[in-house]
Amino acid sequence: MAKILVTGGTGYIGSHTVVELQKVGFEVIIVDNLSNSSIDVLSGIEKITGIRPAFENIDCVDYVSMDRMFEKHNNIEAIIHFAASKAVGESVEKPLLYYRNNLVSLINLLQLMPIHKVKNIVFSSSCTVYGQPDILPVTEDAPIKPALSPYGNTKQIGEEIIRDTIYANPCYQSVILRYFNPIGAHSSAEIGELPNGVPNNLLPFVTQTAIGLRKQLQVFGNDYNTPDGSCVRDYIHVVDLAKAHVVAVERMLKNETKKRVETFNLGTGRGLSVLEIIETFEKVTGVSVPYKIVGRREGDIEKVWADPTYANGELGWTAKETVEETLRSAWAWEQNLEKRNIQE
Ligand code: UFG
Repeated sequence: MAKILVTGGTGYIGSHTVVELQKVGFEVIIVDNLSNSSIDVLSGIEKITGIRPAFENIDCVDYVSMDRMFEKHNNIEAIIHFAASKAVGESVEKPLLYYRNNLVSLINLLQLMPIHKVKNIVFSSSCTVYGQPDILPVTEDAPIKPALSPYGNTKQIGEEIIRDTIYANPCYQSVILRYFNPIGAHSSAEIGELPNGVPNNLLPFVTQTAIGLRKQLQVFGNDYNTPDGSCVRDYIHVVDLAKAHVVAVERMLKNETKKRVETFNLGTGRGLSVLEIIETFEKVTGVSVPYKIVGRREGDIEKVWADPTYANGELGWTAKETVEETLRSAWAWEQNLEKRNIQE
């Protein structure tokens, strides 16, 4: 079966994707510099699939090391490029770090692809490119809005770099995947989200508050133009998201793509508010999440959810997990993490 390079493969979405790739028989090589992940993730992947993927501790910004890596693992047939920095607030403070990490790594890969005869690349983009869409649910042809952070800008520019490069070189093709909000963890609770320090994202904050690591969750704003006043997002189970990558890779390898660059929304099509997430979490786990309403967080979008029709039809892929099951899996992962910490 084909060899797939997964950059950022020990990260949150990356690790779940490696599991799904290995499950259908792909051989995986992970490149990750462990800047925001742990080497232990490899053991989690091995426990689930029975296979420990090949691993190279390399920063994708390092062209020479990446070149050597392609030499060593020859005949890679596709790349899934997750490796990137993703904290919106940090990107405002350290823009160059973000432009360097997120764009130089992509440029390196695109430069190395023809040298090592790799034709296919999947790029991790984000619904952040739509800003606050004028029409909801948002479709792939909705206008791209000015980015609200250097992080968001790296996703927009990354997409442009891909399109320009691929249209200039007939030997490449790419699938750009625009993620909505991934949450949850693998059903085994062997892998999941491992936030560094105080979580920025809603779900890890919810589970850490529920388990007592944090005193109180802050809900950023209840005066938005939404049914309950809190922001609305399209929360998608990370395993559903991971499966879409497998389909995208298979589509490219079978030459079933309709365009040399295809772009898909990966979401459920359903918007849920912050308060609905808290309420559903409390219902399915029986654990209460103390919270207080505070002011709006700068840069937050009021409401966004996907129109996933194009991905559903073209990829034959649909987000299947219910939000209840997804929240349960996030909770099981948090409990498993606590157990491990106590044992250490
Ligand atoms: N929220 C809270 N309290 C928290 C954390 C979040 O109320 O402690 C709220 C936010 O205000 C927002 C919602 O929960 O309304 C979701 O926030 P997240 O930070 O989990 O997710 P975002 O939608 O802000 O951002 C996510 C990714 C980004 C990406 C963006 C758009 O984390 O990397 O989607 O794609 F850029």
